[in-house]
Amino acid sequence: MRVLVTGGAGFIGGHLVRALAARGHEVEALDDLSQGHAENLPADVRLHRVDVRDAAAVRAALLGFRPEVVCHLAAQISVSRSLREPLLDASVNVLGSLHVLEASCAAGVARLVFASTGGAIYGEVPEGERAREDWPALPTSVYGISKLTVERYLSALTSSQGPALRVLRYANVYGPGQDPLGEAGVVAIFTERALAGHPLVVHGRRRAGDTGCVRDYVYVMDVVPATLAAAEGDLAEPLLNVGTGVETTTQRLAEQLRALTGDAVVIEAGPPRPGDLERSVLDPTRLTAALGRPPVELRSGLEQTLAWYRARRAAC
Ligand SMILES: NC(=O)c1ccc[n+]([C@@H]2O[C@H](COP(=O)([O-])OP(=O)(O)OC[C@H]3O[C@@H](n4cnc5c(N)ncnc54)[C@H](O)[C@@H]3O)[C@@H](O)[C@H]2O)c1
Repeated sequence: MRVLVTGGAGFIGGHLVRALAARGHEVEALDDLSQGHAENLPADVRLHRVDVRDAAAVRAALLGFRPEVVCHLAAQISVSRSLREPLLDASVNVLGSLHVLEASCAAGVARLVFASTGGAIYGEVPEGERAREDWPALPTSVYGISKLTVERYLSALTSSQGPALRVLRYANVYGPGQDPLGEAGVVAIFTERALAGHPLVVHGRRRAGDTGCVRDYVYVMDVVPATLAAAEGDLAEPLLNVGTGVETTTQRLAEQLRALTGDAVVIEAGPPRPGDLERSVLDPTRLTAALGRPPVELRSGLEQTLAWYRARRAAC
């Protein structure tokens, strides 16, 4: 199969490109490298260095390659940036996605897989609950609103013609290769800081000193097979939560990383961050059925992630 991965030089995109290539698919990537890195791609995978806001360039890339499947992962991914720069967020995440859809239709793409967010689309998930796919979408951040808007555009515009649509709502994804320099990705940030001997700052859920926000951390090695299944046409469901259903506070995450890296790591209390949801946990029932196994446990995923960051530090 010919597969184009937008955002293919990013954290999840890079893992996906390598997995698709390993399964014998012909893969190309489209990325403007604003956040991603060309080194995330195998040397023989062609990179279209294109901004999704450039409709003509997106169209040219798709008409040149004529993929059968497009996995659309390119995005502005920071919740706090979406609140500071809503126009930029909308231009990349909404208009850029429409450019990818328009080009996909022009190139005769059969299947479009959209990387949406389970972490931001449902809004606050009440205590004791896990958001199922049919849970009302009530995003509170501009980023979540953009992703929900795109879901709705894509579903309206592909219902009668165009590619078959699969929407994956990822929870908080972590794993090897995630960029610790950005504002998103607390596992990557904590891991780098713990290995460097810096304190881990737990931003409060309601006030400094509490156990922090509750999140559903899903390992990238669960995200990739789910996305592969969607790309290869093996996913019956049009919409899938990609999460674990396990709730973890930021304090618990910091303690787990301290236990894995050494007791010397200091954990500090920080203030709540504007825009952060207090609690986000997804129902993983459909994902577990799609994977044919339960998602990877946090401790095991953290051990593998830590091993990767340690090896990278040793190589530098
Ligand atoms: N990481 C998570 O926890 C998470 C959770 C929910 C959803 N997602 C979604 O998964 C996808 C991949 O996220 P990631 O964590 O790998 O982030 P990432 O930042 O590593 O990857 C995004 C990629 O998109 C590229 N990009 C950004 N703006 C672009 C533009 N204008 N034109 C072309 N390329 C552009 C970046 O250079 C980067 O390589 C995104 O759509 C994101 O919204 C991620």
